[in-house]
Amino acid sequence: MREVGWPAAIPVVDRNSVVPIYQQIYEDLRESILAGTLPEATRLPPERVLAERLGVNRSTVVHAYRALVSDGLVEQRVGSGSRVARAIGHPPRTADVPWWITLPPWQVGAFPQVLGELAATFHGERISFVPGVPPVEPSPLQELARSFARVAGDPDYILSYGDSEGHAPLREAIAARMRARACNVDARDVLVLTGSTQGITLVAQSLAEPEDEIIVEQPTYPGALQIFAIARLRAIPVAVDQGGIRVDHVEEILRTRRPRFIYTMPSLHNPTGVTMNADRRQRLVTLAGRARVPIIEDDPYGALAKTLAPPLAALAPKSVIYLSTFSKTIAPSLRLGWLTAPRTIYERLLLRKQSYDMATSLYVQAGVCDYLARDYDAHIVQLREELTARHALARSTIARAWPKTMRLTANAGGFYLWITAPRDLRARALLDAAEREGATFLFGEAFFATSGGDHNLRLAITPVTHEQLVSGIERIGRAIAALSKR
Ligand SMILES: Cc1ncc(COP(=O)(O)O)c(C=O)c1O
Repeated sequence: MREVGWPAAIPVVDRNSVVPIYQQIYEDLRESILAGTLPEATRLPPERVLAERLGVNRSTVVHAYRALVSDGLVEQRVGSGSRVARAIGHPPRTADVPWWITLPPWQVGAFPQVLGELAATFHGERISFVPGVPPVEPSPLQELARSFARVAGDPDYILSYGDSEGHAPLREAIAARMRARACNVDARDVLVLTGSTQGITLVAQSLAEPEDEIIVEQPTYPGALQIFAIARLRAIPVAVDQGGIRVDHVEEILRTRRPRFIYTMPSLHNPTGVTMNADRRQRLVTLAGRARVPIIEDDPYGALAKTLAPPLAALAPKSVIYLSTFSKTIAPSLRLGWLTAPRTIYERLLLRKQSYDMATSLYVQAGVCDYLARDYDAHIVQLREELTARHALARSTIARAWPKTMRLTANAGGFYLWITAPRDLRARALLDAAEREGATFLFGEAFFATSGGDHNLRLAITPVTHEQLVSGIERIGRAIAALSKR
């Protein structure tokens, strides 16, 4: 057993300091232990002895030692005094262990690189069907630039932080648009976000604790799966079919489990492109309401649907937290989204948002607010037409260039095509082959909380030109043919 290196380990106390003497002793010893100057199992001087050496009251030393015990740095046993504790389960506390080795464990999803891939603008020379970005045409850029130039005329507020809840005129404009979709919302219910990704993070961290269960759709947006994995939430997957989430499965689960929330995309679902029918919408909110489980309705694409169904938030304002964004209707570079939440939970989400960024860029909010009042509606009409044209082009090219065994989701719209390959064709093998042909996409496993999706692929039909859309699909067709010949 090592004895303390007297007198080197005796703390130095400063009687003129405003810091209490017990705390000076505690901090001095703590530093020596963490730095390894007092290694594990070192016996500390008995309290009485140390008190005499320092000329302080014994209770002062007792107090300091207790604080070290409650930090787990010192062990005390009757008869054998105080020793530096063993770091059980941790790397040895010596000066040469780098700090990052001692960090608490953390968790990421099965495909940690997926959010980065979705955000990246450059995917090599290949035709990329990966990112969910709006098409280059119709471009909002000219009108948007004019809006930004107009709001820049007021530097007093444009260059400051602004309210954490969001720019009041923008909150009002968003609320008015939601009222037009039958939601009973006013500006006070709107929290402006730095992208709806921020909203998913806010709910994951505010409504649940690590190890809590949540319900997610299967397949679902991989970015959300990654956020839930980092928050250490356990996802219970529920299948999605032509009519949206299988509400009968949700009902079964709610019989025995109490998930913290249900995360769903009822309109133009990512990745399948399906829209939940009216009957299921009603059943889902009724079930969730009965079970007292809130619904997180993620609706980035709803405004692009040909017929605008009322969101779930219109059916059950008290139990739905609604998320949306301008990333898909104007541009993701704005990093501008919003949520609406019942008053009971709004404050909690607001405080957490403040801890991330204090407020969303006021300049961006003011510019977009001006754009909403002038050019947004016309832009959305054009965007819908463009998406319809792209779906028709993609589907006719697939019908011509791919074997019939590749199944497309029927009645799908929005930015994506979700494809199911036959059992003998794995999406990852197809991706390798397609990349050799010069086209790339996302394989299905990234959209699954549990195993599965290995025969699915998602094609974003928006980030490419019409010519590339055709050429990329043909290239994937050649890759399918090459694999089937083997
Ligand atoms: C379903 C879904 N939610 C959220 C997002 C992220 O949106 P934002 O750019 O507003 O963070 C996306 C982007 O692809 C999405 O598909």
